[in-house]
Amino acid sequence: MTGDALVRVEIDDRIATITIDRQKKLNALNPQVLEELDSAFRSVESNEDVLGVILTGAGEKAFVAGADIGVLAEMDPARAVEISRQGQGVLNRIERFPKPVLAAVGGYALGGGCELALACHLRLASENARFGLPEVGLGLIPGYGGTVRLARLVGLGLAVQMTLTGEMVDAGKAERIGLVSGVVPRAELEAGAREFMGRVIKHGPVALRMALQSVYHAVETESARALDHEAALFGLLAATDDMREGLTAFLEKRAPDFQGR
Ligand code: CAA
Repeated sequence: MTGDALVRVEIDDRIATITIDRQKKLNALNPQVLEELDSAFRSVESNEDVLGVILTGAGEKAFVAGADIGVLAEMDPARAVEISRQGQGVLNRIERFPKPVLAAVGGYALGGGCELALACHLRLASENARFGLPEVGLGLIPGYGGTVRLARLVGLGLAVQMTLTGEMVDAGKAERIGLVSGVVPRAELEAGAREFMGRVIKHGPVALRMALQSVYHAVETESARALDHEAALFGLLAATDDMREGLTAFLEKRAPDFQGR
């Protein structure tokens, strides 16, 4: 790895915040950022103190303004496939991450940046957030999963519209179409993201992991098999202390104290 780190990880009160910090280029994703992002998620995955992750971009202006266009300008067909595969690999790791991941989007989330937000399990936007897939304007298509994930989230019609026009969607519209869960003033994004993640990670960690596993498995699987998978995970949960604690706490009219096992 050369030069300064472009991704940092801070852990506070059981939430890891992973920040992409390449502000001069609006946090654009070059190979170094992608490698560091991958390592950051690996390190957080194995850290048992961390229950959830907030992914964000440094600065007021952008979450991530896309893949690095300077890098794309140099690519031949073989390199283009590698670039797409590297980005897809990192975003797949995020989508399959066993702990909840929330994108806190403060500013532009364009191209690969929009795709990165789509790979997270939850999204919260600031009022100045702008989402878009402008790749066709560059003679490209989205290459980090955007042609796959956007339609799942907002439906085929809107996904095709956004992909073909390349036009940006503002935060209000993003909320109306289900692209984000909520919108807060820019100054409240960090606190809003922590409050949102807090409402998630108070639940049993094993149940959260299996809920993510079941929902994302179901998206790619025919219904009967997805239901088999759901039932199997439901069965596995019955072997956990967390399930006993959750059910007992309800019956005893008290808050549960989950231990993650
Ligand atoms: N790659 C590399 N550099 C980028 C970048 C990107 N995606 N986005 C912004 N930058 C750089 C600019 O070149 C500029 O650098 P210099 O100061 O060295 O010239 C700096 O960030 C600030 O950007 P602007 O001066 O352009 O800021 P602005 O406020 O005028 O405009 C913007 C902001 C509308 C986001 C504009 O920067 C923009 O349109 N960026 C490109 C967005 C884009 O097309 N993203 C898709 C990339 S392709 C992709 O992502 C493929 C894929 O699916 C994998």
